[in-house]
Amino acid sequence: MSNRTLAIIKPDGVRKNVVGKIIAQITEAGFTVKGMKLMRMSKESAQAFYEVHKERPFYGELVDFMISGPVVPIALEKENAVADFRKLIGATDPAQAESGTIRKLYAGSKAENAVHGSDSDENAALEISHFFSRNELL
Ligand code: CMP
Repeated sequence: MSNRTLAIIKPDGVRKNVVGKIIAQITEAGFTVKGMKLMRMSKESAQAFYEVHKERPFYGELVDFMISGPVVPIALEKENAVADFRKLIGATDPAQAESGTIRKLYAGSKAENAVHGSDSDENAALEISHFFSRNELL
């Protein structure tokens, strides 16, 4: 079990000006911020990040959405980080997400769903290194 995961507050979350509220909810749930930045992803970076979804019909839309505005990638630490963070954000589709979850509170649709969370310890490590160099992490 790893203790790190990667969160991204997506462009819709930044546009809605709820970055502070989302970070407060994350830290109140017991996660510690180990790295964070406000940035724009390049098309190449978004394509590489979502490479695993390349064959999906929504891949182009997903990449375009992720580069439609700034994002806030956050490296988080907590015991059982991957599973606990996915529980905190709720289902991919906000209509299916449990009440009180970040997506239920802030996501508008399956495509514009406010936050990303890594789905495995292996991907968490890869995704954290996608955004952060060693000296940008605590
Ligand atoms: P995320 O957790 O970042 O990982 C993959 C993303 O693909 C997911 O969140 C959604 O934003 C997006 N996604 C999944 N299913 C669909 C869909 N049917 N249409 C558009 N985007 C989707």
